[in-house]
Amino acid sequence: MTTDPKALPGADPHTGNRDIDPVTGYDTTGHDWGGIRELNTPFPKVALIALVITVVYSIIAWILLPAWPLGRDYTRGLLGLDQNEMAMESLGRVETRRETWLAAFDDPDFDAIAADEALMARARPAAERLYQDNCAACHGTEGMGGPGFPVLSDDYWLWGGDPETIATTLQVGINATHPDTRWAQMPAFDWMERSDRHALAGYVSDLSGGRADHDGPAAVLFEENCVACHGERGRGGLMNGAPALTDDAVIYGQDEASVMDTLRNGRQGLMPYWSDRLSDAEINLLAVYVAGLGDDTTGGTP
Ligand code: HEC
Ligand code: HEC
Repeated sequence: MTTDPKALPGADPHTGNRDIDPVTGYDTTGHDWGGIRELNTPFPKVALIALVITVVYSIIAWILLPAWPLGRDYTRGLLGLDQNEMAMESLGRVETRRETWLAAFDDPDFDAIAADEALMARARPAAERLYQDNCAACHGTEGMGGPGFPVLSDDYWLWGGDPETIATTLQVGINATHPDTRWAQMPAFDWMERSDRHALAGYVSDLSGGRADHDGPAAVLFEENCVACHGERGRGGLMNGAPALTDDAVIYGQDEASVMDTLRNGRQGLMPYWSDRLSDAEINLLAVYVAGLGDDTTGGTP
């Protein structure tokens, strides 16, 4: 037992004086901030215990779990957990579950599929996602199209709206780089007299309203220059990629100014091909989905 007052707890090491707070009875630290002094109380036990627990936990975690990076690798820990592997496993489970129904679309009998309501109910969310990811940017979120991009939710088609034809369109594209791509070009009629183009533009814009004069000079021009692709009196139906001009479905516009533009510059829309980006089953699934966009029974918005 020391008797040196300088060595006693709380004593000033230079003078040996203790400075005790009269209210609490605790030593103070001896610092004085303009009359305010700080009690020299012990470090709180709770904080100390928490600190010990976290240290113990981290040591256990280092031993059991993946922890230390070793260059390109890392320590696996005694439990040998690998989150990468776990993620791949659960993904694999989802894929096998999905494959069981997606396989039905591999070589589909489209009629049977459309009739299989349980299958379509399962497939619809995946089809919607595929459509939103790959098609909506051009054709609109619900197939409502836009200038230059045909509407997919109506019943007017360039190439055909049954699932088989749509699947082919998706496989090879239109004016795309696929060797078997569908090919469709509206040639430019810039060589034609402007007055003749004007007459044609008037005739074509009247076609969609059913007001066109089929005996006038414009009808003759149309007969000579346009019927080969757009069909008798612009009724289409030739399935060569040229639209019918008699209905109210338009790609670029059928007002006189738009038709003048079409005649002067020609048109050649590009629809990419998907056979290298989507599997056959995914393409067939999309084809069934797109074919159904038009009829209200399947939830499409015309
Ligand atoms: C880069 C824009 C673009 C994307 C993306 C795109 N399309 Fe198209 N699609 C077009 C254009 C442009 C046409 C019209 C081509 C033409 O004018 O001849 C077209 C035409 C079509 C046709 C033919 C319509 C008919 O009347 O015969 C179908 C079907 C179609 N697209 C479906 C899809 C689906 C399904 C996807 C998603 C996998 C998709 N498109 C993605 C631009 C696109
Ligand atoms: C070689 C075939 C061919 C000939 C000939 C042709 N067209 Fe076209 N036309 C097309 C194709 C294909 C398209 C669609 C282009 C596209 O979607 O990119 C088209 C599109 C159009 C459009 C745009 C329709 C819309 O919905 O916006 C108009 C208008 C049109 N043609 C008018 C005419 C007129 C008028 C003539 C005659 C002077 C004519 N075409 C001659 C193939 C032809």
